[in-house]
Amino acid sequence: MKIIVIIVAIIFGIVLEGCNCKIVQFIFGDSLSDVGNNMHLSRSLAQANLPWYGIDMGNGLPNGRFSNGRTVADIIGDKLGLPRPPPVLDTSLTEKDILINGLNYASGGGGILNETGTYFIEKLSLDKQIELFQGTQELIRGKIGKRGAEIFFREARYVVALGSNDFINNYLMPVYTDSWTYNDETFMDYLIGTLRRQLKVLYSLGARQLMVFGLGPMGCIPLQRVLTTTGNCREKVNKLAVTFNKASNELVNELAKQLPNSNYRFGDAYDVVSDLISNPTKYGFENSDKPCCSFGRIRPALTCVPASILCSDRSKYVFWDEYHPSDSANELIANELIKKFGFSRVDQVAAPSPAPDIAPSPQN
Ligand SMILES: *[C@@H]1O[C@H](CO)[C@@H](O)[C@H](O)[C@H]1NC(C)=O
Repeated sequence: MKIIVIIVAIIFGIVLEGCNCKIVQFIFGDSLSDVGNNMHLSRSLAQANLPWYGIDMGNGLPNGRFSNGRTVADIIGDKLGLPRPPPVLDTSLTEKDILINGLNYASGGGGILNETGTYFIEKLSLDKQIELFQGTQELIRGKIGKRGAEIFFREARYVVALGSNDFINNYLMPVYTDSWTYNDETFMDYLIGTLRRQLKVLYSLGARQLMVFGLGPMGCIPLQRVLTTTGNCREKVNKLAVTFNKASNELVNELAKQLPNSNYRFGDAYDVVSDLISNPTKYGFENSDKPCCSFGRIRPALTCVPASILCSDRSKYVFWDEYHPSDSANELIANELIKKFGFSRVDQVAAPSPAPDIAPSPQN
């Protein structure tokens, strides 16, 4: 019986018992995970809809990813043997597509807080993304029934990867109210408190297998470096990322203990990216302080634009544009996160059990 299940799984992907569906992912995030949602937000100023975004992926045309290639979530999903979820705002999607591939709610400029990134005019904050997820659940219940939907959403994998915009495009910018309402400590409490509520809502909606990604050294993104006279990383900003990672790690561990049958995990790649930025050649990179795609010497340009000049070897740059890592840096980040999470491929886990647990075999 077990052998049959495994063979079926290999041929058709993981088919869940009791529901005509598979294990898929639901991804909540910002521009680091956006795979095209903002392209459907016509008024949004956070866009990756022009060359040279997407140049190293598929047909090389912009696809909504804020990178030259794959996102970290793309790479992790691929390595776990999960399909890549399409953007939720793609109106051509049917319930069947969702049952096969899951959905991605990530939106450039989005944050944990609603008020983050409002200067991009249109974006999906995490609360909004969760609201859309509730709509998805209704659709699926209508399609396969309450019982099947319950299994489908219980077995699905969830990714929550936001936070940098809450600093870069909110707290650290004087144009935002939050920057003068809070200090480092009270803002962190507010942010983590909001994330706690949101992760509990996801649990109440049936999410059980959930990964929270922490932040990288965001004081070292090219956009932050040009704000200093020396061109060095902004240590104050990095410190905020470290504090956020520590607090969200504690939060996730606390929830994992508190919420029955939950498998909530936290992982960040802060240390390895920090080392990569200090010692790029150690990792086969050549440049870790400038964007590969930049508009000549006029920096910071907000995005990479068609008139920009590209670096000669994109795989050797840590940063693709002012904000976002390149495909090759994302691969390194993804490998580090997989190591931290200790996940193995979904199709190496046999038949799903009622109290699911991803085999926690550490990979080396
Ligand atoms: C954030 O916005 C959503 C609407 O997208 C709303 O439902 C929610 O209550 C807001 N959250 C807060 C804390 O105001």
